[in-house]
Amino acid sequence: MTADARPRSVLDLPAWKEAGRRLVVLTCYDAAFARLLDRAEVDLLLVGDSLNQVIAGQETTLSATLDQMIYHAAAVRRGAPGTLMFVDLPFLTYQVSIPEAIRNAGKVLQETEANGVKLEGGRHMAETVRALVERGIPVMGHLGLTPQSVHALGGYRVQGREAAAADRLLDDARELEAAGACAVVLELIPAGLARRISAALTIPTIGIGAGPGCDGQVLVLHDMLGLNEGFSPKFLKRYAELGSAVREAVRAYADDVRGGSYPAKEHSFE
Ligand code: KIV
Repeated sequence: MTADARPRSVLDLPAWKEAGRRLVVLTCYDAAFARLLDRAEVDLLLVGDSLNQVIAGQETTLSATLDQMIYHAAAVRRGAPGTLMFVDLPFLTYQVSIPEAIRNAGKVLQETEANGVKLEGGRHMAETVRALVERGIPVMGHLGLTPQSVHALGGYRVQGREAAAADRLLDDARELEAAGACAVVLELIPAGLARRISAALTIPTIGIGAGPGCDGQVLVLHDMLGLNEGFSPKFLKRYAELGSAVREAVRAYADDVRGGSYPAKEHSFE
């Protein structure tokens, strides 16, 4: 492990797990927030395809494009040049064929200076993960509720509750690790199962809606800051209420402009 307070490359991740150091991960989509998260010493920034919902206002992640991911990831990299950054490969950029996955993941690394990519799926993606890793592209897996499969899963619901499904997820996690994945996100699964998977792997698990037994935690930045006011699932803890802060600030500005108190003399040039 480096002497640094934060991991600097994917090679630091297994040592962090072994040392019991929990990874602090947040999604990030732009340079302004990237600068703030960097100063707050977040360990890893995830440019998630959730940006299609959070930033672009779409219902699901399915229509996110590679160009969209690259545009946002390049901005995040400019805001946080030294922080570990992973970028989601969007739907249909890695499932069709291994050559396409290599080309698209490589383009992400070339054009954004990301440290790696994240992709969804278990054993059926293991061969793709292996092909990317063998070509020098670090890969983070994503199991449990995989939003790109929302239609097949029948909605955003907890996965792996039944014993057979839980065993399957554990096997999927093992396959991803064997294929060379450097970490795996576990989304919306029972806490006991997340603990079991975390104990079985040497790579870190990063939970979201997966309880306290993971090796790290990720949240969607806008959700934990209270900027997505209508969204309050059980797993989410809000650390700020920026939605109401923004509304109040904008109302105060509107009152000042309408009432003629802004701009005042001190805001004006001679
Ligand atoms: O797209 C995303 O933001 C994600 C996280 C929620 C893990 O995949």
